Amino acid sequence: MRRAIPGGRLLVAAALLCAVGSAHGADENLHGALAPQAQLDLLEKLGVAPTVPRQPALVDVEFWKDIVPADNETTPERIELGRKLYFDLHLSKDGTVACATCHDAAKGFTDQRPVSEGIGDQLGRRNAPTTLNAMFFQEFFLDGRAPSLEAQAKLPIVNPIEMGQPSGDAVVQAIAGDPSYAPLFQKAYGRPPNYDDIGRAIAAFERTLVFLGSPFDRFLAGDSQAISDQAKQGWVLFNGKARCMSCHALNPSNPLGTDNRFHNIGVAARHQNFNELAKKALQALQGAKGKAGLEAVDHLALETDMSELGRFMVTKDRADIGAFKTLQLRNVGVTPPYMHDGSLQTLWDVLDHYNKGGEANAYLDGGIEPLALSESEIDAVVALLFSMTDDRLKDENDRQQAAQHERSLTQRPFRDNELAMRKVLPFEERAAGGPGSGGR
Ligand code: HEC
Ligand code: HEC
Repeated sequence: MRRAIPGGRLLVAAALLCAVGSAHGADENLHGALAPQAQLDLLEKLGVAPTVPRQPALVDVEFWKDIVPADNETTPERIELGRKLYFDLHLSKDGTVACATCHDAAKGFTDQRPVSEGIGDQLGRRNAPTTLNAMFFQEFFLDGRAPSLEAQAKLPIVNPIEMGQPSGDAVVQAIAGDPSYAPLFQKAYGRPPNYDDIGRAIAAFERTLVFLGSPFDRFLAGDSQAISDQAKQGWVLFNGKARCMSCHALNPSNPLGTDNRFHNIGVAARHQNFNELAKKALQALQGAKGKAGLEAVDHLALETDMSELGRFMVTKDRADIGAFKTLQLRNVGVTPPYMHDGSLQTLWDVLDHYNKGGEANAYLDGGIEPLALSESEIDAVVALLFSMTDDRLKDENDRQQAAQHERSLTQRPFRDNELAMRKVLPFEERAAGGPGSGGR
């Protein structure tokens, strides 16, 4: 069921009627997400407590200290407030979308859709990454346009196709109908509700989503029996022949498996002309600076073809055309589909993509080239990736592994053995009018 609530006053009225909990019934499935209260129950089952998280064993002490900004020390009061906000549908203009709609606890804190659906059932251009462990990134969003978790959290609220609030003040108005908020803000930040503290509190809550307890972690810690022999073979390939480690570096100062850099790995612009798009983007962004500049990139990235330009929209550096942030590999088993555009359905598709050296384009990263992995080597790397899911998400991980495997038996749309084994080279295929020939 969809419920559109026109005008702020009605929204406040609806909020007052249902001061506790949400304006929607517990069994509702807005935009396909599990209802907020059911997600909160699930959170409890997953053992995500509203308490200040302790430093995980795998994470370096100095690194752990660094992830919390000076003006937003994590406290139980801030977590409690952020936890309420994250699941609150009233943050959106029509009362149907919360953060938890697109970062759903039942779906690995994503929506498991190619691209996300916001208010009025509008589709964006990008795939929703997980909020699990997101705190460990240095920059946020697929193009790194937000410098902190705090800054990130404020943008979807005012994006027209996500939560659709016309301004930061409007969202403060929208939650004013719930009398429990004012004392929660007072306790957390010593001030009345305001847009900046909404961003801070949600970030404090997100810092409780530490999901690093996987079989793979026990293997790294010295338990050689924690993962299968096949996954162990995958780990050798990951660090060697498959070259994954060159971008997905994994170590105590970087538990996510990302180099925190941006690369064009030949996903973007399968069907677009990069140079035309870049020209358009420079025009559209002319003169937009600071906060206005950030919001302008946010709109263009989520609502237009310019989405495919990736990091270029932030740096305006041509070397960044089609480059996206190296995504985390943690819990990747439960967050399909994959890549910034959600174009790859299974981890087998991901391996097929890398194996053929990505989609040829003029801005392709030098680290992407055909890998000549055999079928059993592909299976081994996939087994490794499925071993990186936190134990608390094991059931969904097992379900996904079975479902993706089943699909891979009949559907491998990105497999190209000729390219992977270098029997033909990408430019030859382009010259012959093959898949890499368009758009340049
Ligand atoms: C309509 C769906 C939708 C809603 C609502 C939404 N998000 Fe997102 N979220 C996305 C998409 C899509 C992206 C990727 C956008 C991009 O990178 O350009 C994203 C990115 C993120 C990231 C960055 C992760 C990373 O790896 O850099 C975080 C963190 C996040 N969202 C948290 C939130 C929070 C907190 C809220 C609520 C205030 C929220 N999101 C609301 C869809 C949504
Ligand atoms: C040159 C750097 C680079 C190399 C090498 C690389 N990756 Fe990536 N990886 C990225 C980037 C950048 C993205 C995000 C791209 C996008 O969204 O368009 C990504 C995305 C992914 C994703 C999708 C995650 C998600 O949530 O959507 C997976 C899985 C992945 N890589 C696994 C691997 C594996 C396995 C290998 C080795 C076979 C590998 N990568 C090699 C840079 C790299």
